[in-house]
Amino acid sequence: MTNTDLERAQTLITSIPDYPQPGVNFRDISPLIADGPALRAVTEALIAPFEGQFDIVGGLEARGFLFAGTIAAMTGVGILPIRKAGKLPRPAAAVSYSLEYGTATIEGPDVLKKGERVLLVDDILATGGTLSAAQALVRELGAEVVGSAVVLELKDLRGRSLTGDVHTVFAD
Ligand code: PRP
Repeated sequence: MTNTDLERAQTLITSIPDYPQPGVNFRDISPLIADGPALRAVTEALIAPFEGQFDIVGGLEARGFLFAGTIAAMTGVGILPIRKAGKLPRPAAAVSYSLEYGTATIEGPDVLKKGERVLLVDDILATGGTLSAAQALVRELGAEVVGSAVVLELKDLRGRSLTGDVHTVFAD
């Protein structure tokens, strides 16, 4: 990884105003993941503080799956897919959390060994609802969260008040 690749990666995250609804400034990581050196630089930055400390990487649907895949391939660990409700044939645990309007639920499969060390990864930390639910889900599944890492933290939304410490590659 070069610093140039990482700096360039940040510029590739595009802001789309008023999507998916008025007032929301959507962050699109599509240009970043389309760029091989930028994707590798971000993946290495996500892994760096946790090198050798996790047995499996938990990716949050949907864009967290992308980085769970690259982290798994670069470190040789497997992937825990954390899915939105109703997608797994036989969920082993479910956790519900609050959205601005209503609630959402995530589910996980029965693949973790007791005490297994999980690194959670997602693209964006916004309100922290999704990531904090994933942390609870991993514990519910009998494993340990050794860390949580995201590509971009939207600081104004104060997600860390729900998630605790999160390793962030970029902050906005
Ligand atoms: C986005 C993002 C995170 C989550 C962050 O996913 O990819 O998973 O929201 O928001 P929070 O911190 O306020 O919980 P989204 O729910 O849009 O799902 P998607 O990736 O399937 O589009």
